[in-house]
Amino acid sequence: MDKVILTGDRPTGRLHIGHYVGSLKRRVELQNSGEYDRIYIMIADAQALTDNFEHPEKVRDNILEVALDYLACGLDPEKSTIFVQSAVPELTEITFYYLNLVTLSRLERNPTVKSEIAMRGFEASLPVGFVCYPISQASDITAFKATTVPVGEDQLPMIEQTREIVRKFNSIYGDVLVEPAVLLPSNAACLRLPGTDGKAKMSKSLGNCIYLADDEETVRKKVMSMYTDPGHIKVSDPGKLEGNTVFTYLDAFCRDEHFAKYLPEYENLDALKAHYTAGGLGDVKVKKFLNNVLQEELAPIRERRKEYAGRIEWVYEMLRAGSEKARLEAADTLEKMKAAMKINYFEDSDFLKDFISRQ
Ligand code: TRP
Repeated sequence: MDKVILTGDRPTGRLHIGHYVGSLKRRVELQNSGEYDRIYIMIADAQALTDNFEHPEKVRDNILEVALDYLACGLDPEKSTIFVQSAVPELTEITFYYLNLVTLSRLERNPTVKSEIAMRGFEASLPVGFVCYPISQASDITAFKATTVPVGEDQLPMIEQTREIVRKFNSIYGDVLVEPAVLLPSNAACLRLPGTDGKAKMSKSLGNCIYLADDEETVRKKVMSMYTDPGHIKVSDPGKLEGNTVFTYLDAFCRDEHFAKYLPEYENLDALKAHYTAGGLGDVKVKKFLNNVLQEELAPIRERRKEYAGRIEWVYEMLRAGSEKARLEAADTLEKMKAAMKINYFEDSDFLKDFISRQ
């Protein structure tokens, strides 16, 4: 069986370093590993509309921003098909058939959707499109016969829902769909990078993100004002690592060689942590180190982003071509599904013959 990756992001803002460590970086590694037969990266505009339907301009304004973030991180359209969800209408048609295979109570049990409903104040009147987005996500994944879905931890319930739909479809209609496996970040700190303010998640509305497009000075300012341990007041005080965002970011980003380069008095992160918890190490020093580490990782991304932004027409055409290519694959899956479901009346010469022989 071919090895196929599908993953994507909602275009509701530019991508930040949480997206980067949680998913983008890995995607690029997987792309360059040469182990995959096909890779699809989707800008999930239709899914973004499920909770932004009143603000389509918010989605529209971020399509090219996200495409730039992808290219900046090293996704290569020669190796990965980058496309826009709504430009593949087959996905909507597939969703319609999957709706039959899922119950409302199953959808309402999805823990990610549950917390999103609470966050958006949708309890009193829940839009059907929103509660169904995991079904549409199952279409995204299965339409491309994906075997591997690299995502962050919050997407686990979506992959579980997809697997259930696949098993149900195949058991009713025959073996057509491929059951995908999830691929989570390997480093625990990357599972969900907190915001710079220490809140559980980076989110645009909280203003606690470091964006891939942020310039050097903006990144530095954000790092220098990051949340640490509120009990660590004097340098001599022992500091706590738990919930200390600066150390969580170091867990996600720093490698031993960064110490040799920027902070040679420590051998590695363990040594730095030991000094911090014992007392005698100030936050400013740790933050300056983190800033160096982040700048080293982000500088080439920022540069590439600028280059691609300078030839945005090319990016636009790349997205168009990717969407056309993606459509062919989704259409192939839909055709096989409809044949299995026996609703391929105009492609199936037996349809008419069967009617006549019943007379
Ligand atoms: N739900 C994902 C997110 O919020 C985006 C997404 C849509 C996706 N369809 C997908 C991710 C299919 C993986 C596979 O980021």
